[in-house]
Amino acid sequence: MSKQLVVALSKGRILKETLPLLADAGIEPLEDLSKSRKLLFDTNIPDVKLVIIRATDVPTYVQLGAADLGIAGKDVLLEHGAEGLYEPLDLEIAKCQLMTAGVVGQQQQGARRRVATKFVDVARRYYAEQGIQAEVIKLYGAMELAPLMNLADEIVDIVDTGNTLRANGMEPRELITDISTRLVVNKAAMTMKHDRLKPLIDRLRQAVEARR
Ligand code: ADP
Ligand code: PRP
Ligand code: MG
Repeated sequence: MSKQLVVALSKGRILKETLPLLADAGIEPLEDLSKSRKLLFDTNIPDVKLVIIRATDVPTYVQLGAADLGIAGKDVLLEHGAEGLYEPLDLEIAKCQLMTAGVVGQQQQGARRRVATKFVDVARRYYAEQGIQAEVIKLYGAMELAPLMNLADEIVDIVDTGNTLRANGMEPRELITDISTRLVVNKAAMTMKHDRLKPLIDRLRQAVEARR
């Protein structure tokens, strides 16, 4: 294994909160990420590089060792599975909730429930635990539209302020789990590159604790 450390960052919402946290931990990209079309960045720390990828791709990069560290939402990690990954640190950013939701006042009828979500495995597990038969329909976004268009009876999605649900005549129902952003580490790298990883993880932990 090379001595280089690669950190995979989720682009989108998480990135905006990730960069200040990395800066607090003493890790800063050498150029402005928002002004570049590049995907791979050097940092102020020699041999520490950042890659900026789709949130759902972060666990794959880290699991397969293309990145040593990753920063990803717990929702994405639950859906991906934990194989090959350690999750040593809750970064306490991008906090939200994974919930079921439906149209205001519309009660569930029938034995079988149609559920639209991008979190299909999490949803299947949740409804199975509840003893509810669910037909899970995979979508890639705008889940709140599905019940309005009679594509589904219910959705499983992220809720933060609740504004998106309210704006579409929907209401939250059951909490599946609280979500926040986590640091993940490739299991093999944790052993092979421990000397280099440990101080980075420690600095991130201190940065998180300093914000409480
Ligand atoms: P995507 O395009 O895959 O939805 P986002 O950038 O919207 O990517 O979200 C990335 C992560 O941010 C999610 O995996 C989740 O952990 C978190 N997140 C998503 N929506 C919200 C929200 N409304 N408020 C806070 N955190 C959120
Ligand atoms: C996320 C999520 C909800 C919304 C919840 O969507 O999927 O739609 O935020 O936040 P709120 O409760 O504060 O309204 P996002 O904006 O990330 O859009 P997406 O469909 O592109 O993921
Ligand atoms: Mg989103």
